[in-house]
Amino acid sequence: MAFESKIRTIQWVGNVSRMVDQTKVPYEYVMVDIKTGDEMYDAIKTMIVRGAPAIGVSAAHGVVLYAQELEKLNLSREEFISKLIEKSEYLKTSRPTAVNLMWGVNKQIEIIKNSKSDISGIIEELKQNGIKMENDDISINKRIGDNGAEVVPKGATILTHCNAGALATVGYGTALGVVRSAFAKDNTIQVFSDETRPRQQGSRITTFELKMDGIPVTMITDGMCSYFMKKGMIDMVVVGADRIAANGDTANKIGTYTVAIAAKYHNIPFYIAAPLSTIDTSIKSGDEIPIEERSHDEVTTINGKLVCAEGVNVINPGFDVTPHELITGIITEVGILKPDYNVSIANAFKTPVLR
Ligand code: MRU
Repeated sequence: MAFESKIRTIQWVGNVSRMVDQTKVPYEYVMVDIKTGDEMYDAIKTMIVRGAPAIGVSAAHGVVLYAQELEKLNLSREEFISKLIEKSEYLKTSRPTAVNLMWGVNKQIEIIKNSKSDISGIIEELKQNGIKMENDDISINKRIGDNGAEVVPKGATILTHCNAGALATVGYGTALGVVRSAFAKDNTIQVFSDETRPRQQGSRITTFELKMDGIPVTMITDGMCSYFMKKGMIDMVVVGADRIAANGDTANKIGTYTVAIAAKYHNIPFYIAAPLSTIDTSIKSGDEIPIEERSHDEVTTINGKLVCAEGVNVINPGFDVTPHELITGIITEVGILKPDYNVSIANAFKTPVLR
């Protein structure tokens, strides 16, 4: 269903990767040019760019940036390739949980290894592949959105957690792609957005982008979801994913698991919306997903001000894993996958995707 979002998060322009600086949203909506591979590493690590699909495409751009720098060193073709693969592997260590990061870099490494071109030809192939990944990301999200819109009831209130929107992808979004496609068919739907402590992706980013696109949104704090579910005010939950194991266990922003348990208790459908590039079939279950431990300052301070007793113990995992039993369906570009996920996920990879 056609819905044009105003947001374009990442774009390759000339010799740089241009992206929205998400650390500044909602105070400012500014673009920043990432000019080197190390700048891309830092942009991912410091969350200038965040959200699994956005990280994947950015990482692919990062490989091009490293290639452009290495070209200036007058290396032999063999040295260029070996150093570029080394730098690409390094880029993968910028954040651990979102598998799209490894996916984006691995796609570029395949090109480097298979290319028959000279150095400038390899760089051109990498650049074109990065641009293709941008375009594919948007069309895949539109397909996710349209597939998901089929299961959104008329006039539904959809709860989401974190930001799986246009700003977490190149454009359109996954969970918020479902919202956009559903809104195009039925403008009486609305969104409830968890604030998503501690980085506030829900309050800062989800509310910002939905308001920008004119979609009704109400912000609630993370502890409120059961209250509104009990009152019958939530019809379904749709969230994104950072990594999905072969059995359907899904890592997403910390707090997602709590929402899934509450949804199960209240008999409310709980959907994951994600591209196939977020599925890691190399791991059997969520137990194998590495969970990022983030800086304790994110929890102890707000806008640089201490909000707890000084020196208090803190633990700050960035993600949790929702067990597959709590997931009603996984909305992908090839359709909505249903349990048994070991079977439906394996079959999804055999389904051709129309872009
Ligand atoms: O730490 P973040 O902001 O990168 O975490 C983002 C999320 O958890 C998203 O829900 C997920 O990446 C899906 S984005 C389409």
